[in-house]
Amino acid sequence: MPHVLAVDDDPNFLSALADLVEGQGFTTQTAGTLRDARVLIGQRVPDIALVDLYLPDGKGADLLTSQALGVATKVVFMTGYADVESAVEALRLGASDYLTKPLDIGRLKNLLADLVSVQQEESPDAEPISVPQELGRLGLLLGASPPMQELYGMINRVAPTEASVLLIGESGTGKDLAAQTLHLLSRRSKAPFLPLNCGAVSPTLIESELFGHEPGSFTGADRRHKGYFERAHKGTLFLDEITEMPIDLQVKLLRVLETGSVMRIGSDAPVDVDVRVVAATNRDPHKAVQDGKMREDLLYRLQVFPIHMPLLRERGDDILLLANHFLDQLNERQGTAKQWTEDALLRLRAYPWPGNVRELKNVVHRAFIMADDEIAARCLPREVSEAAANGLNVQVGISIGEIRRRLIAATLEASGGDKRKTAALLGISLKTLYNHLNSSQESQEQEEEAPATA
Ligand SMILES: Nc1ncnc2c1ncn2[C@@H]1O[C@H](COP(=O)(O)OP(=O)(O)OP(=O)(O)O)[C@@H](O)[C@H]1O
Ligand SMILES: [Mg+2]
Repeated sequence: MPHVLAVDDDPNFLSALADLVEGQGFTTQTAGTLRDARVLIGQRVPDIALVDLYLPDGKGADLLTSQALGVATKVVFMTGYADVESAVEALRLGASDYLTKPLDIGRLKNLLADLVSVQQEESPDAEPISVPQELGRLGLLLGASPPMQELYGMINRVAPTEASVLLIGESGTGKDLAAQTLHLLSRRSKAPFLPLNCGAVSPTLIESELFGHEPGSFTGADRRHKGYFERAHKGTLFLDEITEMPIDLQVKLLRVLETGSVMRIGSDAPVDVDVRVVAATNRDPHKAVQDGKMREDLLYRLQVFPIHMPLLRERGDDILLLANHFLDQLNERQGTAKQWTEDALLRLRAYPWPGNVRELKNVVHRAFIMADDEIAARCLPREVSEAAANGLNVQVGISIGEIRRRLIAATLEASGGDKRKTAALLGISLKTLYNHLNSSQESQEQEEEAPATA
C-alpha cells in the first residue's frame, strides 16, 4: 500500500487531509513541523509527501534540498499563496507538482492516482520492466539529435556490463536520468537504485551514510545502521557530485570498489556487497584532480567508462521536441490544450540554454502558467525572447560581414565570453575566431574615427 506523509502546521487541515488520503487507499503519517517530518521519514520513507511550502521551522522545500527525501518520493507542495512565484520555485526544486489551498479535492485525488501510476512504472519491482527504446528516446531520456543517438549507443553498450560509469556534464543535462536509465537497462534493474548526493550530505555524516555504523561507534549512533552500499546490494549506487566527497573518504570508497566489501564504522568485519557504481559530476574531473579535490586513482577506477552529456544548445531540434513534450505533459495533467505560437518556438530554438534541459523545463512551466490558450513569446522570460532578437533578426540587404560580426558577438555573449567554446559552437578554429574579432574591431575603430563619411 503506498504511503503518504502530510506536513502542515494547521492540525485541523492536516487531519482532514489525512482522512481524505486514507480514503483513497493510502497509509498516512502526519507532521506539523520539518523536524517531525524528518523523524518520520527516518522511520519510513514515504512514496508521496504532501508538504506545505511554509512551516514554523523553515520552508517545506528544505526537505527536498537537504536530501532528506530520495528521488523515489514524489513531493507535492501545498501553498496558501496561490501565486505563480512560489509554485514555480517549488517545481524548480524538483517537486512533482503543487496544489493551492483551499485544496480542490477532485484534483488531489487525480494527482494521487497519477503519482502512484508513475511510481509503479518507475518501481524496480514492477514487472516486466519495459524500457522504451523507440527512436528519439532511451529509457527515461528523450531526444533524437545526433549527440543523443551517440549517447544512447554508449548507454546501451555499457548498461549490461559491470563497469563503473562516470557521467560528466553541465547542470541540467540529464545526468540523473541517464544514471536511472543505465540501471533500468542493466541486469540489476529489479534491485534498488539508490542515489546519494555527495555534495549535499555533511562531511561528518557521509561516511556512515555510505558504509553504515555499529551501535555506539560514535555519539548519537544508538542503533546499527546499514549504509547505502549494503542497502544497494545487487543494485546500483548513484554517487552524484562525486568530486564533493571528502578526500579521505575517497580512499575508503576506492578500497570498497576494489575489494567488494564494506566495513561499518565501529566494526572490523567486512560485509560483502555486490553494487555497481555510477558516479556523476558537473565539473571537469581532471581539473578536480589538479585542484586536489579528487583522487586520481579513484577517477581512473570510476571512469572506466566516461560518458559526456550533450549540452542542450548542441542538440538542435531536440529543444523543440522537449518543449513540446513538457507542454504535452502539462496539458494532459491540467486538462488544457495550450499551444506554442510559431514565434515563441523560434525564440526557444534560438536561446543558448545555459541551464540545459532543467532550464527549458522550467521555462515551459512558467510560460504554461502565464498563457491562456496560445503561448506567445511574451510568456517567455526576457533573456529567452531577447536571445532570439540578437541571433535571428537578419533581413535581406544586410552584408555577410555584418551577419558574421553579429553572429560572433551573440555566440560570444551566449558562451559567457568563452572564446574556445564560441569557436567550437561556430565550427571554426580559435585562430579564425581571433582573426574575425581583430578585423571587426579594426573596422569599428575606422568607423569611429570617420563617422561623417560612414
Ligand atoms: N533527455 C531528457 N529527456 C527528458 N527530460 C530530461 C532530459 N534531460 C533532462 N531532463 C529533465 O531535466 C531536469 C534535469 O535533469 P537531471 O536532474 O537529470 O540533470 P542533471 O544533469 O542531473 O543536473 P544537476 O547537475 O544539476 O544535478 C529533470 O527534470 C529531467 O527530468
Ligand atoms: Mg543531478
